[in-house]
Amino acid sequence: MCGIFAYMNYRVPRTRKEIFETLIRGLQRLEYRGYDSAGVAIDGNNNEVKERHIQLVKKRGNVKALDEELYKQDSMDLKVEFETHFGIAHTRWATHGVPNAVNSHPQRSDKGNEFVVIHNGIITNYKDLRKFLESKGYEFESETDTETIAKLIKYVFDNRETEDITFSTLVERVIQQLEGAFALVFKSIHYPGEAVATRRGSPLLIGVRSKYKLSTEQIPVLYRTRNIENVKNICKTRMKRLDSSACLHAVGDKAVEFFFASDASAIIEHTNRVIFLEDDDIAAVADGKLSIHRVKRSASDDPSRAIQTLQMELQQIMKGNFSAFMQKEIFEQPESVFNTMRGRVNFETNTVLLGGLKDHLKEIRRCRRLIVIGCGTSYHAAVATRQVLEELTELPVMVELASDFLDRNTPVFRDDVCFFISQSGETADTLLALRYCKDRRALTVGVTNTVGSSISRETDCGVHINAGPEIGVASTKAYTSQFISLVMFGLMMSEDRISLQDRRREIIHGLRSLPGLIKEVLSLDEKIHDLALELYTQRSLLVMGRGYNYATCLEGALKIKEITYMHSEGILAGELKHGPLALIDKQMPVIMVIMKDPCFAKCQNALQQVTARQGRPIILCSKDDTESSKFAYKAIALPTTVDCLQGVLSVIPLQLLSFHLAVLRGYDVDFPRNLAKSVTVE
Ligand code: F6R
Repeated sequence: MCGIFAYMNYRVPRTRKEIFETLIRGLQRLEYRGYDSAGVAIDGNNNEVKERHIQLVKKRGNVKALDEELYKQDSMDLKVEFETHFGIAHTRWATHGVPNAVNSHPQRSDKGNEFVVIHNGIITNYKDLRKFLESKGYEFESETDTETIAKLIKYVFDNRETEDITFSTLVERVIQQLEGAFALVFKSIHYPGEAVATRRGSPLLIGVRSKYKLSTEQIPVLYRTRNIENVKNICKTRMKRLDSSACLHAVGDKAVEFFFASDASAIIEHTNRVIFLEDDDIAAVADGKLSIHRVKRSASDDPSRAIQTLQMELQQIMKGNFSAFMQKEIFEQPESVFNTMRGRVNFETNTVLLGGLKDHLKEIRRCRRLIVIGCGTSYHAAVATRQVLEELTELPVMVELASDFLDRNTPVFRDDVCFFISQSGETADTLLALRYCKDRRALTVGVTNTVGSSISRETDCGVHINAGPEIGVASTKAYTSQFISLVMFGLMMSEDRISLQDRRREIIHGLRSLPGLIKEVLSLDEKIHDLALELYTQRSLLVMGRGYNYATCLEGALKIKEITYMHSEGILAGELKHGPLALIDKQMPVIMVIMKDPCFAKCQNALQQVTARQGRPIILCSKDDTESSKFAYKAIALPTTVDCLQGVLSVIPLQLLSFHLAVLRGYDVDFPRNLAKSVTVE
């Protein structure tokens, strides 16, 4: 789990300092993907392209530590200007080998840095490859799976059958040997001024910037088939001799810059023109021309890759006036929730239209059951909406943690409809569950927040939750937008059900007032901060509720444990007397979520059981609830909405509480230890 960033300037003079700044800024945007070590590979001092050697600078710690290290390198003249230069950079979250400089990327082929590579993902057959390469005399210095790739490309190069083998052919041969998931960018002293990037199962996109007209809007994909012409083009000649019509470049071989990154947040400040690579695409830049080729035809069989224009703005991914991205994202929820519904819910006609699902609706209505699959917070969004989905679709709904679903080899049939909930769209467990369901011919539906992500591309259809980029590792606004997306799906499914019309109207009415009510909940921030002041020295915190708000408790407890490192458990109040009651005493803080819904009376019972054991419950309750607050040690009164939407409001005080607890305990809210935003390994 890592962030990849690379930058090539072609006929655009840049000083070394400017190149450093671009690389470091790119890494900083990706730091949420991993932040235990970082590194760059850049060209040595000589600015003659052909005579350059590659310099590696790597450092344990975050990107700031790498930035400081770069400026300590006395041998580097910061003013030296490069007309063409290719720099690669990486921020790591360790999967193989402890975080240290040797294990961090770029990894190299040998002490002379002939080939260097940055990698996001995991190579599952690296041990066999390493054994093979060691038997051929290649010496390893790190504990990483990635070093195998660097050594393997050198092995292929050392054993090449023709002198003029292209860089991309080498990479093609390397990836044929790799198993697992990867996004890779290579640089080599043998191919100065050239870049090769490829991916399988991990995201990678390329941004392009030029003030001159670009040669094309669609880059044709060259297939390495037995077709003699193509083989000739790709294998036997250098990329620069490729027909220009198969490449992207600035017209007239003019100045152009290319940015390679794990996601768009690192590119958007430079350009909004991007190309999303597909699995097994090999993208190569030589002489300022980008071409894409592949050995296998892609799943989508699209013969070209479009240059897309991203609508995302940089300020969307900046912190603004907030002290942390997580805090900003909590406070963005009135807008993010609105954006999720925008153009989809018609409050006049009480109808909902999810464009990405409309062509599949008939098939979904005929299905045997819905299976909703996700991990962590995304799974909680499924738990939160299960009841309303059962009610509105009148179908059995299973909610599943992706890893457990796979461990059980859960039976899936072709008349099942499987939903994959994922903010990043890249979570490995969810992606594997998706492929498992596809193999069994179920209809697959993605619910993601990342356009062009693996899950959104591999599902048959889907919903983009439109929450905007979520940078804080702890997911907040994605949860509420996932919640609403699933409710909207239920509403769309039930449009023809006469018996459900009153209920639908009630829910749609509730959706309309949600953004305003969220603002009201956010105005309780100070009160929640005061509560955090009382609680931040505690070791444990229980969060209890049931019915529509059971998921609120699971999600609240997850937020608390992941950023405050306090022990926290979400407890189903119905299970209280089957075990958790033993935890209750005067010392143990218990937050109880008690709303005026069908579980209200049962929650009152749980409250009595807690107070009878001298527990001091902190209650999240409805504004008009005078009963519960009588027994509360502390009460936070919330505005109310329709029962099935209440979870959108009641989770927010818990998001805020976890944020304040973490700050008071002195932790970095956006970068909790041992966690990364996007979990692209199993
Ligand atoms: C918790 C959190 C994680 C993610 C989980 C799935 O705050 O962020 O539990 O929800 O790793 O990630 P996505 O939604 O990207 O599939």
